[in-house]
Order: sequence, then C-alpha cells, then structure tokens
Amino acid sequence: MPIPKAELHLHIEGTLEPELAFALAARNHVELPYADTEELRKAYLFEDLQSFLDLYYSLMAVLRTEADFEELADAYLTRAAAQGVRHAEIFFDPQAHIARGVPIGTVIEGLSRALERSEERHGVSTRLIMCFLRDQSAESAMETLEAARPHLHRIIGVGLDSAEVGHPPAKFKEVYEAAAALGLRLVAHAGEEGPPAYITEALDVLRVERVDHGLRCMEDPALVERLVRERVPLTLCPLSNVRLRAIDMLEDHPLARMLDAGLMCTVNSDDPAYFGGYVDDTFHAVHEALGIGQEQLRTLARNSFEAAFLDRDAADEEL
Ligand code: ADE
Ligand code: ZN
Repeated sequence: MPIPKAELHLHIEGTLEPELAFALAARNHVELPYADTEELRKAYLFEDLQSFLDLYYSLMAVLRTEADFEELADAYLTRAAAQGVRHAEIFFDPQAHIARGVPIGTVIEGLSRALERSEERHGVSTRLIMCFLRDQSAESAMETLEAARPHLHRIIGVGLDSAEVGHPPAKFKEVYEAAAALGLRLVAHAGEEGPPAYITEALDVLRVERVDHGLRCMEDPALVERLVRERVPLTLCPLSNVRLRAIDMLEDHPLARMLDAGLMCTVNSDDPAYFGGYVDDTFHAVHEALGIGQEQLRTLARNSFEAAFLDRDAADEEL
C-alpha cells in the first residue's frame, strides 16, 4: 500500500502519456512527427530544461477540446490514486494553449470536469494552479490573469514556470500583486536551473508561500537557514532533476541533506509521463538511491499535507 500523500508539483500537460497523445492526435487529425509511441519515447532524452520544454510544448498540439483536457486529467487522477495520492494541486499552462488558438475556458472547464468527479471516482481531492510562462512577457501574464477572471472560482492560485534562467521572478511582481488582490494563493518555480537569488526574489518580491523545486538553495547556507526558520515548503522533483540534468544521478540528489538540514521538503513528480515515474515511484526511487527510510518517507508525506492549500481541518484529517 503506497503511503497516502499530497502531490503539489504536477504539470497536467506533463502527464500526457504517448498512448494518449497518439489517440488524441488521431481524434483531432493532428499529425505527430513520430511514427509511433516507441519512437516518441525515444525522444525523451533531455539535455536540460529547454530541450524538454521544446518537446513538451510541441506535443500539446494534440490537446484541443474540453473532452481532451478532461481525459488527460482523468487519466492522471486514475494513476495518482494508485500511487497513494489523496490530494493533488495541479498546474496548467494556459498561455501555451491560447497561443495555439485554444481558449482558456476550454482548458479550465475541461480540466474541471474531471476534477469535479475526482473525489467520488478516485478518492483524490484537487485544486488547480494557473501558471504563467516566465519566458513570455509580464503583459502577457497580466492578460492571462484577466482572461481567467470568469473562471477564478475554479482556481486556487497562480504559479510561474517554463525557462527559468534569464527570467527572474521580479519580472512578474505586478501580476502577482494582482493575483494576491484577487485572493489567489502564490507559488513559483525557483532554483531549478536558476540561481539561489531567484528563490529569495520569489519570496521577497512575489511573496510566494511555497517554492517549486528550490533545489539550488543548497548553494547558499544563509538562504537554507532562512527557509528552515520560515518553514517555507519546497516542492522537490528528484526524477525531474535527473532527467533534466540539474544533477547527474539520483544518488547525487541533495534530498537527504535537505531533510537533515531541517528544510520543509516534499517530493513530487513534475512531468511524470516524461521523467520515468509518478509520485510513489519517486518515493521508492529516493528510498533506494538515497537510503531515505520509512520514517523520513512518512515525514515527506506529512509535509505534503501540511504544505497543501487545504484548510487546516482537512489537512489534519489526512495527517
Ligand atoms: N513546465 C513543465 N515542467 C517544468 C519544469 N520542470 N520547470 C519549468 N517549467 C516547467
Ligand atoms: Zn515544474
């Protein structure tokens, strides 16, 4: 039985398995530049974040209708339930869809159809977090927030993802202020490929409540001390870090050292269709590679509920 856990760092577009990609391509008459699922899987050898993002965005071409987004989310929730996930806070990238002519309403309403049934069907409670693409302009992010206004009851918060280096958090100060004024919760990717200073900036300028990845905090002892003191949750994704070459091998991952330092770590799957495992697979992998024992695995699971955007009573029920 997998440990009950919350998943807090999961891009729904990153759960698009090759089989579903081909099925949707056929349904929507989209031609993929791969002969079959096997050939597509062979393309999953990434040099860095950007080489992954290129494939990730191009494969989104198959997602066109509400039914496509519903099917994508339902497939993820089925897998998540089998991995012991009881609560999932799910990222989506509206700008990547709007750019292809898919309206934001199609994305949000399609995903929501699956999410609404999730507790009953899969025993998984859910929230949606809308991410801004940091390699696009701040104006585009603000327009996206505006476009989401009719659907805000479906969204718990905003995040920041895509190519990190050269796109520091401060670029999005205004849109984060606007999101906070709308009552949205705030998270951002920082310190995945970008420097520790981006983590500080996400906290001080964007006022995020959780840091997605935060891996490179380990290069700055004063920052580690602050993150421990302020109990800032980090949504780590160890299999992603290996596949995107932030680290060479899982055996080199700092997760064990981060836990020993007292950091509020959680373990998540990021883009599991691309990175070789869902969240419980990741728990097993860090157990095997890093000797993270049962007690620490339980700590990681407990942290995931504590760091979730659940009300206190719901989180305590899971703990
Ligand atoms: N979008 C999807 N996965 C991502 C990641 N690991 N980092 C930044 N943006 C992403
Ligand atoms: Zn991510």
